[in-house]
Amino acid sequence: MSSKGSIPAGRPAGYTATAIGLHWLIAFGIFAAFGLGLYMTGIPGLTPTKLKLFSWHKWIGVTIFIVAVLRVIWRATHAAPPVAPGTPAWQAKAAAGAHHLLYLLILIVPITGYLYSSSAGVPVVYLGLWKLPPLIEASDTLKPILKFAHIWLNYLMAAIVVVHAAAAIKHQVIDRDGTLGRMIPFLR
Ligand code: HEM
Ligand code: HEM
Repeated sequence: MSSKGSIPAGRPAGYTATAIGLHWLIAFGIFAAFGLGLYMTGIPGLTPTKLKLFSWHKWIGVTIFIVAVLRVIWRATHAAPPVAPGTPAWQAKAAAGAHHLLYLLILIVPITGYLYSSSAGVPVVYLGLWKLPPLIEASDTLKPILKFAHIWLNYLMAAIVVVHAAAAIKHQVIDRDGTLGRMIPFLR
């Protein structure tokens, strides 16, 4: 790896406040949308509460998508800090691979949710104020496929997040290389 002591040109020494803010805004948004998604789909029947929670779920999801687009643009124009010193090359590669997949999933998961809503013929009224356009026409053929995609991409993302968080905690607690402190400044 290229990080032999000195910091490569153009790279910050640690994650910047913007990177940290965007990371946790999206992470907590996803925890909320995920938990709400599981809870709301478990409510039997079609009650007003269920419909309200579906709307909230969609609002949170659309907001995550907007912030994720901003985050990806920001990240494409700002280098990440070099990996923690002493990190084996395979771990650095695995972390970079997981990060790329997570960037992809925080965009694709809300898109599949939106497409599923469109295919079901249900409009998304963002924050109860703005009716967003359907991206595709209502379709009984696409509906089950998009629902399946939304659910299973969610589970894929959850699995990667669990490994990602476990790796960060393992580095912090066992290897004591300060990895978690790179995203949680008060742990530094
Ligand atoms: C990152 C953002 C999102 C996350 C983490 C997320 C997560 C989830 C989860 C965990 C479920 C429950 C899946 C299950 O049945 O096991 C779900 C269902 C659902 N989501 Fe999302 N979602 C997101 C964004 C969206 C968006 C943007 C929309 C639409 C605009 C949407 C529409 C739906 C709908 C309609 C369902 C119900 C599916 C059903 O009928 O069973 N989601 N979501
Ligand atoms: C939905 C939840 C999450 C998503 C989508 C996510 C996504 C990401 C991404 C894309 C990066 C790479 C940042 C970059 O270099 O551009 C990253 C870094 C990081 N994340 Fe997460 N993350 C999530 C949750 C968590 C959790 C729960 C923890 C801790 C328990 C965590 C700890 C970290 C740490 C420590 C880094 C920096 C890794 C390093 O220094 O190489 N993340 N995360």
